[in-house]
Amino acid sequence: MNKVTRGSLLGIEHLQAAEILGLLKLARRMNPRKPRPLLRGKRVLLLFYEPSTRTRSSFEVAAKSMGAMTTLVLSSGSSIEKGESLLDTAYTLRAVGADVIVIRHPHAGAPLLMAQHLDIPVVNAGDGMHEHPSQALLDAYTILRHKKTLKGLRVAIVGDIYHSRVARSGIHLLSKFGAHITLCGPPEFVPETAATLQPGLHISRTAEEALHGADVIMVLRVQKERLAGMKIKLQDYIARYQMTMARLKLAKRDALVMHPGPIIRGLELTWEVADCPQSAIVEEVANGVPVRMAILAEALGKAR
Ligand code: CP
Repeated sequence: MNKVTRGSLLGIEHLQAAEILGLLKLARRMNPRKPRPLLRGKRVLLLFYEPSTRTRSSFEVAAKSMGAMTTLVLSSGSSIEKGESLLDTAYTLRAVGADVIVIRHPHAGAPLLMAQHLDIPVVNAGDGMHEHPSQALLDAYTILRHKKTLKGLRVAIVGDIYHSRVARSGIHLLSKFGAHITLCGPPEFVPETAATLQPGLHISRTAEEALHGADVIMVLRVQKERLAGMKIKLQDYIARYQMTMARLKLAKRDALVMHPGPIIRGLELTWEVADCPQSAIVEEVANGVPVRMAILAEALGKAR
């Protein structure tokens, strides 16, 4: 197997706790409002095969805040539509001068494959149902702005865990730091095998049980685009799992409500919950910028 370039961020699963803490510490030193030209002259290629608002824009703002140039390539409207392969696209972007490629792709492993064939770092901005490491890092960063430690924290992850790369990366990260995680949803969204992702994971089939005493509630989007062939009835899902103010009251008084976005109001959560004082949903988006500044600085060897 080819070696992956140092500075690549492909997932959380194989990171050491110290590496995660290093990125979070670096993120705390980053201020997008006070630009530092750490990456002046560097070229950041944003290669997105799937839609994105938060991840794409915050990587771009992060790169520009540090003086880098950015170029966006979308699958739609590029030569990917003419059939150019992933690796040929990678070689092309390297040839035009990319110093780092940030990639979102519908297939798990696409960023790893690219990283194994390039001499520049690759950052995974979400690959299929595999991982979304920058989201897990910004979620940890957000939690730690409100809670002293991740150790012993009771985290309920509610919703479509099966399809969620956000959940997978979050579970890897939170488990490394000793959080107690409960996965909650119907069997289609939380199969029994989900408990094998990490030791110590609990599964609950009722929102009421999962939320009882929770410090953090991570609500996930129902990914309608990935539901083909599933027997989920959305009205049943809403009745049993939608995050409502009544359900939120079962959690600790200072419980944090999180959601990676995009949120679908009226489906996985109510309007009231989305906008309640405990909601950190908008804050998560804002925190994505310093966290992604840290990721890019680390990728390009400018972290010290
Ligand atoms: N959380 C997240 O990945 O959002 P986008 O799809 O908008 O980037």
